[in-house]
Amino acid sequence: MAIERTFSIIKPDATRRNLTGKVVAKFEDAGLRVIASKRIQMSREQAEGFYAVHKERPFFGELVDFMISEPVIVQVLEGENAIAKNREVMGATNPADADAGTIRKEFALSIGENTVHGSDAANTAAEEIKFFFADAELVG
Ligand code: CMP
Repeated sequence: MAIERTFSIIKPDATRRNLTGKVVAKFEDAGLRVIASKRIQMSREQAEGFYAVHKERPFFGELVDFMISEPVIVQVLEGENAIAKNREVMGATNPADADAGTIRKEFALSIGENTVHGSDAANTAAEEIKFFFADAELVG
């Protein structure tokens, strides 16, 4: 199995409820290592750029407003099959569909306020990491 890196955001619903440690514990318990982490207040421009792929979706405005409503924690996670493993630990986008024990099942409030974002593929992981981190900030 390959050692991979993936990008994660702990979203405003989690920072607001002081759940960031519980979310990180889920990553670490699954064997993912946090190799970069920073708490930021995302700007509207950043949120619109990061989620540009969803620009035409009806929920785009709501998504951007939510992502800039409170601070977020952007992170790089490293481990064996990190991209798929992180998606497993997060659970389905809609918490109503998420498996027991996943982050979204335990913590998410709705499909919009769903606690975490995680990259969906190797190419998006690389792009998303670059969007928020310089190479020198990744300390594996
Ligand atoms: P995320 O993994 O961050 O990628 C895009 C986000 O859009 C997704 O998680 C959800 O939080 C959000 N999203 C997807 N579908 C909807 C929806 N129907 N209504 C509101 N937000 C949505």
